[in-house]
Amino acid sequence: MKNTVLTFRQAKEKKEKLAVLTAYDYSMAGLMDEAGINGIIVGDSVGMVCLGYKDTLSVTMEDMIHHTRAVARGASNTLVIGDMPFMSFQTSVRDALVNAGRLMKEGNAQAVKIEGGREVCPQIRAIVRSSIPVMGHVGLTPQSVRSYGGFKVQGKDEAGARKVLDAAKAVEEAGAFAVVLECIPAGLAELVTRSLSIPTIGIGAGNACDGQVLVYHDMLGMLTDFSPKFVKHYAEIGAQMRTAFTQYISEVREGVFPAAEHSFDAADDFLKKLY
Ligand code: KIV
Repeated sequence: MKNTVLTFRQAKEKKEKLAVLTAYDYSMAGLMDEAGINGIIVGDSVGMVCLGYKDTLSVTMEDMIHHTRAVARGASNTLVIGDMPFMSFQTSVRDALVNAGRLMKEGNAQAVKIEGGREVCPQIRAIVRSSIPVMGHVGLTPQSVRSYGGFKVQGKDEAGARKVLDAAKAVEEAGAFAVVLECIPAGLAELVTRSLSIPTIGIGAGNACDGQVLVYHDMLGMLTDFSPKFVKHYAEIGAQMRTAFTQYISEVREGVFPAAEHSFDAADDFLKKLY
């Protein structure tokens, strides 16, 4: 069944949990789509997990369009949400509108995601008015990493918790169809989830959210240098890949690969004439 923004809205009403993952390319999107994932966020985390940046600030609109378009080709039943990168929407309502339009027209996204609270509501309102669905993103918003002084859990005291709750309510009021809650205490995420009529999609926000999202490199155990506390490894693909690469290297060096079954045959009488 095709997942749309309606599926997301109805899931909250029916108390059905939404499963969302990130993806950045065609083949991975296809596997997730076949597995029945509700939504794929083509996150600006692409900068960190695919492009090797330390944070998401260097990611460009061109990067996002390129990866979103690839994911959209692989996902037939999944809602594809393209992330608006740093400075693609903060600069003005007009820039936000133009860039959201590019993610839809050039990237084939079905919705866009915007980080921030009340300060980005004029942008969310204008984009939603143009019939582009918007997913909000509050709590730890990685594009603000410089002002936090690092990737830090948000909403840990009363003032911080009020700020997160206010941000979530503001983006709902501006017209977002769902909102990501990133790295906030589980109790606060539960309160936000109960206070909103749109679904909350948690990452590091406990299990009372209406849905969950993880970066696939994290949940598949592909990044071995760091694993955040909120990540569960559903597989150790990184270790399996390393073993496969090592085996391939030694088989090539030893002349074991390719074997006869990996080679093409033809009547080779004519080859003698070439000598
Ligand atoms: O960039 C990203 O991958 C995200 C998701 C984790 C929500 O924002």
